Amino acid sequence: MTQTPLTSAPAWQALTAHAETMTGTTIRALFDADPQRADAFGAEGAGWFLDYAKQRVTGETLDLLCQLADERDLAARREAMFTGAHLNNTEDRAVLHTALRLPRDASLVVDGTDVVAEVHAVLDAMAAFAEQVRARTWLGFTGEPIRNVVNIGIGGSDLGPVMAYLALRHVSDRGLVLRFVSNVDGTDFVEATRDLDPAETLFLVASKTFTTQETMTNARSARDWLVAGLGDPAAVARHFVAISTNADKVAEFGIDTANMFGFWDWVGGRYSMSSAIGLSTMIAVGPDRFRELLAGMHAMDTHFRTAPWRENLPALHGLLCVWNRNFLGAADQVVLPYDQYLLRFPAYLQQMIMESNGKRVTAAGEPVHWETSASFWGEPGTNGQHSFYQMLHQGTTIVPADFIFFARPVNDVGDHHDLLVANCLAQAGVMAFGRTAEEVAADGTAPDLVEHKVMPGNRPNSTLVAETLTPFALGALVALYEHSTFVQGMIWDLNPYDQWGVQLGKLVADSIAPMLTGEAEPSLDSSTNALIARYRAARGR
Ligand code: F6P
Repeated sequence: MTQTPLTSAPAWQALTAHAETMTGTTIRALFDADPQRADAFGAEGAGWFLDYAKQRVTGETLDLLCQLADERDLAARREAMFTGAHLNNTEDRAVLHTALRLPRDASLVVDGTDVVAEVHAVLDAMAAFAEQVRARTWLGFTGEPIRNVVNIGIGGSDLGPVMAYLALRHVSDRGLVLRFVSNVDGTDFVEATRDLDPAETLFLVASKTFTTQETMTNARSARDWLVAGLGDPAAVARHFVAISTNADKVAEFGIDTANMFGFWDWVGGRYSMSSAIGLSTMIAVGPDRFRELLAGMHAMDTHFRTAPWRENLPALHGLLCVWNRNFLGAADQVVLPYDQYLLRFPAYLQQMIMESNGKRVTAAGEPVHWETSASFWGEPGTNGQHSFYQMLHQGTTIVPADFIFFARPVNDVGDHHDLLVANCLAQAGVMAFGRTAEEVAADGTAPDLVEHKVMPGNRPNSTLVAETLTPFALGALVALYEHSTFVQGMIWDLNPYDQWGVQLGKLVADSIAPMLTGEAEPSLDSSTNALIARYRAARGR
């Protein structure tokens, strides 16, 4: 595969020179020069339309970005991912989340095994279990049907499930209570369970490794809570299921592996919501709607695998992220869904994108000499407008934005949806085009206020639109961002599928815990030692 350092690639150098020529160009000027540019800078796939006419790009920019994709062997790397190459080289693992949504009649043989058959065997087992919970025929230890489902997990074992549950509440079984516990802060567990009856509560312990401190701590507290409530350790069998790749640890915890839904080491945590980690989603919306979610993902997978770069939504999105990050110097990017159901979508993307591409060395372990992942953050519109949009519009830092909306509302109340979409389009336009001093003054604004009211504009943004929020549309949107993350990671020569940067903090926390209890004496830097002493004093230790 690619050998040349990224910055020596002809397309990279051409993009650097091209960016220089673009410094004086504004988005407003681009539209003045070509009022119909929306026709050229849009693409459609898997039910989503991407408008990127309000990016600071020309046809030449796009040509060079596509050239960069070719020079960096993006098509070959994409095929390597889809066919099970060990792209996660530091852990020697394939990267096959796309196999989780292959249709039943497909086949993908990896290391001698047809993974599609295995995937569907787990999906069928999940479906049988989910149907029992939904039919209230999965009974708890005392014979009560399960009415509360609590997912215990963190990171990829939490963010995808929470995001999908919130996004698909409108097609969920409203008679079931779904809760999510992730933080090791005991408050999370206590508040999630305080009003629940243990006799009607099922815990899904979701952890790829089944060793994660937060999840195992919460799972132990859940077991204590359940046994205290029902008075018998034998109750665990009816109230706990595990979702994991680690059967030994599941058994060690005391969950019967007959009540375990497995997945594989080729599913990264932040790419796992289409695996058994999605069990809470399936219980909430039912197996058929869950399969629609998978079908949406598969449709976007196929689009990404087959469409030419200029028509390929994830490729365009990822290449535009690279353009904004490396050539226009944007350190942040916001994701602004104009849909309240997508409340946790930005948080979900944060892990997917930043844990994947927040790296300082290439896959081969060489230091990078280019910027890698931008920070991603965001909030649903219109709420964000009354919070941080001031900085987006007039701050000194340019933050490119993704706007997301659906044409048809799930909840069609009065004129709410027209107003919601009007706000979305207004914000995208104001960010792109701004308002000059002359335009402000022409309104009769007092001269001393003119500068305060100038909107510089020239803030690049894209808009993603789908017809309505269905499981299919959500699946396609998630897969779009998954593959955009892949595109960025491949251009930057990273391994987006490991996360070594999160390990050290875990080890240090393990060593500090006994210093807080008094089992060990503080032996760290003076700052940390003093904080430990203060903590111990407050707790009388
Ligand atoms: O934070 C690191 C991480 O390994 C994530 O990548 C992962 O999603 C999360 O912890 C949870 O891991 P597990 O599913 O093994 O409990």
